[in-house]
Amino acid sequence: MPHPAPLPPAPLPIVRTVPELRAQIAQWRRQGHRVGLIPTMGALHAGHVSLVARALAEADRAVATIFVNPKQFGPGEDLERYPRHETEDAAKLATAGANLLFAPGLAEMYPSGFATTVAVSRLTDVLDGPLRPGHFEGVATVVAKLLLQTLPDIAVFGEKDYQQLLVIRRMAQDLDIPVRIVGAPTVRDANGLAMSSRNAYLSPAHRAIAPTLHAVLAGAAERLRRGELAASVLFSGRNALNAAGFTQLDYLELRDGESLAVLDAPKTGARLFAAAWLDKTRLIDNVAVPSHS
Ligand code: PAJ
Repeated sequence: MPHPAPLPPAPLPIVRTVPELRAQIAQWRRQGHRVGLIPTMGALHAGHVSLVARALAEADRAVATIFVNPKQFGPGEDLERYPRHETEDAAKLATAGANLLFAPGLAEMYPSGFATTVAVSRLTDVLDGPLRPGHFEGVATVVAKLLLQTLPDIAVFGEKDYQQLLVIRRMAQDLDIPVRIVGAPTVRDANGLAMSSRNAYLSPAHRAIAPTLHAVLAGAAERLRRGELAASVLFSGRNALNAAGFTQLDYLELRDGESLAVLDAPKTGARLFAAAWLDKTRLIDNVAVPSHS
C-alpha cells in the first residue's frame, strides 16, 4: 500500500499589528509556552527555515517576522528591488513548523513622528559598518522594536550575518532586553555558496563565480590552521578573489569572533570575514578558523 500523501500544513496565521501580536503571545504565555522569534526580511530560503527549526529546539512556539526594513538600506541600495514573496514565505514557514507570522506594514513599524534610533558603537566601527553607513543603526532599531513587541524567550539570528549577530547581542544586553540571542550556523548550497535572498540577483555567469567566495575563505582557514602566516594567506586569498572575477573586493580579513578586533595571527575564536561584489550584487561570508594543530 503506498503511503497517503502527507497532509499540507495548516495555513500560517498572519498578524499585521502589534496589539494582535501581543494578544497571541499573551495567550501562549498563559498556557506556559516558551516563545522563539525569527526576524527576517522575507524571500525565504533554507537558511531562514533552519532558524525556525533552531527556535523550536528551545521554544515551543515560533514567531517569524517579515519586514523589509527601509532604515537599514542605504541610498542606492536595493530596497525597491528587494524580493517580496509573502505567500510562498508563509507556506515555507508553516512547513517548518512556525506558529505565527508577524508581517507589519511600514506605518505599523514607523508611524509618522517616529524619531528614535538605536546605535551600537565599537562593533559597528569595522567591516560593514563604515561601508554601509546607517545600516547597523537601522538593524538595531528594528530588531529592538521586534524584541520589545514580542518579548520572546529566545531570538535566532544566522551566523551568515556574523557582525549583525554580534551587534544585536550587544544591543539586547546593553538595553536589558530579557531575551537570549541565539546564533545559528550558515546554510550553504552544495557548492558552498551561503544562501542569501540576494543570490536571486546573480546572472548565470556570476552564479558560477559566487561559490569562490566560500572556497577562498575555507582554503584560507585551512592554511591558517596549518600554521601559515596570516599576511601571506590573506594576500593570496585576495588575489584569488580578484582572479575569480569578483568586480570589487571590500575586505578579506582575520578578526576576533567576539570583539571583531583585527588579528595578525589566528587564535581561539578567530574568524575570517569577506565581502565582495559581482556587479551590483554584494556577497558577504565568514568562517571560523579552526585552532592550530
Ligand atoms: P534577512 O537577510 O532576511 O535574514 C534573516 C535571518 O536569516 C538573519 O538572522 C540572517 O543572518 C539569517 N540568514 C540569512 N541567510 C542565512 C543562511 N544562509 N544560513 C543561516 N541563516 C541565514 O538579516 C536580516 O534579514 C535583517 O537584517 C533583520 C535581522 C531581519 C532585521 O531587519
